[in-house]
Amino acid sequence: MSSVDLKALLEQMTLEEKIGQMIQLSAIFFDSADGELTGPAQEWDLDEHGLSMIGSCIGGLNAKHKKEIQDRHLATDRNKIPLIFMRDIIHGYRTIYPIPLAMAGSFDPSLMEECAHMAAREASHEGTHLTFAPMVDFVRDARWGRVAESCGEDALLASKMGEAQVKGFQKDDISSPESLATCVKHFAAYGGAEAGRDYNTVEISERLLRSRYLPAYKACIDAGTTMVMPSFNNLNGLPSVGNKFLMKKILRDEWGFEGVVISDWEAIYELCVHGVARDLSEAAEMALDCSCDIEMVSRAYYDTLADLVRSKRVSEDIVDRSVMRILELKKRLGLFEDPYHGSIENSDVLLCPEHKEIAERAALESAVLLRNNGILPLNKNIKRLAVVGPFANSQAIKGTWAAMGENKDCISVLDGLKALLPNTEIKWALGCEASIDDPSKDKIAQAVEICENADAVILCVGEPQGYSGEAQSRVDISLPGVQDELIDAVTSVNSNTVALVFNGRPLTLVNLEKKAAAILEMWHPGTQGGLAAAKLILGMANPCGKLPMTFPKHVGQCPIYYDRTRTGRPKKNSDDKHEICVSDYLDCGDLPLFFFGEGLSYSNFVYESMVLDKNEITKDDTLKVSVTVRNDSDTNGKEVVQLYLCDLVASAVRPVQELIAFEKIALAAGERKTLDFFIREDMLRFYDSECRYISEPGDFTLSVGYADHMRFTQKFTLI
Ligand code: NOJ
Repeated sequence: MSSVDLKALLEQMTLEEKIGQMIQLSAIFFDSADGELTGPAQEWDLDEHGLSMIGSCIGGLNAKHKKEIQDRHLATDRNKIPLIFMRDIIHGYRTIYPIPLAMAGSFDPSLMEECAHMAAREASHEGTHLTFAPMVDFVRDARWGRVAESCGEDALLASKMGEAQVKGFQKDDISSPESLATCVKHFAAYGGAEAGRDYNTVEISERLLRSRYLPAYKACIDAGTTMVMPSFNNLNGLPSVGNKFLMKKILRDEWGFEGVVISDWEAIYELCVHGVARDLSEAAEMALDCSCDIEMVSRAYYDTLADLVRSKRVSEDIVDRSVMRILELKKRLGLFEDPYHGSIENSDVLLCPEHKEIAERAALESAVLLRNNGILPLNKNIKRLAVVGPFANSQAIKGTWAAMGENKDCISVLDGLKALLPNTEIKWALGCEASIDDPSKDKIAQAVEICENADAVILCVGEPQGYSGEAQSRVDISLPGVQDELIDAVTSVNSNTVALVFNGRPLTLVNLEKKAAAILEMWHPGTQGGLAAAKLILGMANPCGKLPMTFPKHVGQCPIYYDRTRTGRPKKNSDDKHEICVSDYLDCGDLPLFFFGEGLSYSNFVYESMVLDKNEITKDDTLKVSVTVRNDSDTNGKEVVQLYLCDLVASAVRPVQELIAFEKIALAAGERKTLDFFIREDMLRFYDSECRYISEPGDFTLSVGYADHMRFTQKFTLI
């Protein structure tokens, strides 16, 4: 670690220099630093001297570009404090792995860690020091476009996946040229946006906040994340960056987080737009009071902080504390020794074969087989195959936030199949566009024609990558455009239709589910997506992903999720449409189309037993739960064994079930394995009606399986 004396450095800094450290500007500002003020720097009236004081940069093209910016900066900053380069590395840098929602469906935190590390290596070689990831917003509403970036609807799964990303990106040493520092976001409850509309209000109880929304952020902090980003939304009346309850009470006091906090893009300025600050100086004061150390791109700190200090509205000690945290981060990154963080121009790790192999494995492991009447896997000797639909010959499958990833690097399904089936006659047709703006049906006939004479059809439907992500909320989460008409037309002429779905959020797929012979959920699978799809179709790989989010039948069911709390009027029989006065919908039913935790395999996994080593435990005991699973097939495969808890009677209403542990295991054909899970009293705790985190003596059940497909349920008592 660097020997730079930060205290001495801070002492020599002027107030303006300190404030400069607290400002983050985009790379475009620094491009104009050649003495000539242009573009945004001119708007800010930032001359070379002003720019030399800035502390960090968001973006930058590549290693060369960032080195130029850093060199110019160090040549002009009298304190020689290097810039930190930050950017969003969400699911890959140049080699793109599946979107985080898909990765959650792999239920494999070690794979997530491997992917994050691969991305860190590429991005770090390219001169980035810190990523704005992991994003672990808990989410239950598929209308919200940012579900694609999230790890889905379960707090435990999101915690494990978030933790894995922190480990993978940082690898315990953020100064390494193979690592990236991380920033957990968006703290907190951004995914609770009312009606799934991005940036919208979040109004939830403290109980719900603590029990579901907060655990994943906390897990990332415990895993050692470097930075925290407050969310845009107002939570129970206050936008996060100015929300003392969140930022001071929970983050700093309860959790003891001592790292840097950075605002989201212009979020400090938006305190004025929200109407909780009269002007930028009030906004700056609020954010600083909530210990926000860096302001991303808006100019509240830049314009007002010096005056606030001089007029004693803000104490310079608070500024010093923030600056110290930023300098410490720079020191931990090793930037005082090596301001380039070991970056390498034209690094050969970008898109290298090893990274593509990881991305392919990730795409294979996160795909979810939702239906299969036995058609899959397809026989490799198939003679005539029709590959149709808007995602059949598309390379636009990398996903919403693919950093420097390019469509041209992605393998389409058509190319994947062609590579693996050299002796098959493969014909392709678009059929229609996947667009809410394109209702034209004129290409459907051509698709039908090639399907009529094919032995099987691979029908690739879905939602464009740009339809999910920031500000991409939808009220109608069905397949956009006339894809349902394409499904109708194709399946009416060929019953051997295998559907592949490419999407960034749960979609309503009722029609597809009725008509396709098989459905393989591919998500937006990244660089190797089409090859992975082809391998799965042909049985060269066995699907093993499970849904990380519930798929509704109808958008009107949103939010719909597996761990709903019990109602006094539950439906007893989901098939009975005539039950009266129960919690249900007249025109849809209470069940989703596909459940959280659901996913098929080409293997047949038989759950043989679940054995508890005791029926009663005290607060100091550990309960051992042994689950035996056998692969009753000729195909090697992987199964995610999921264990769910239900607290039968408690002082506050509890969920019908909650995931308490899971493990993905490989089982060779015919193999049997017994898995042991260990349950301790702390895993039975919950937030009671007064928000105390406690366990209560009483009866619980443990079930193995998923949703309403539990294989075994056993009762035990906490005494
Ligand atoms: C806004 C997004 O909300 C956030 O996730 C992202 O990290 C920043 N912009 C920076 O790109």
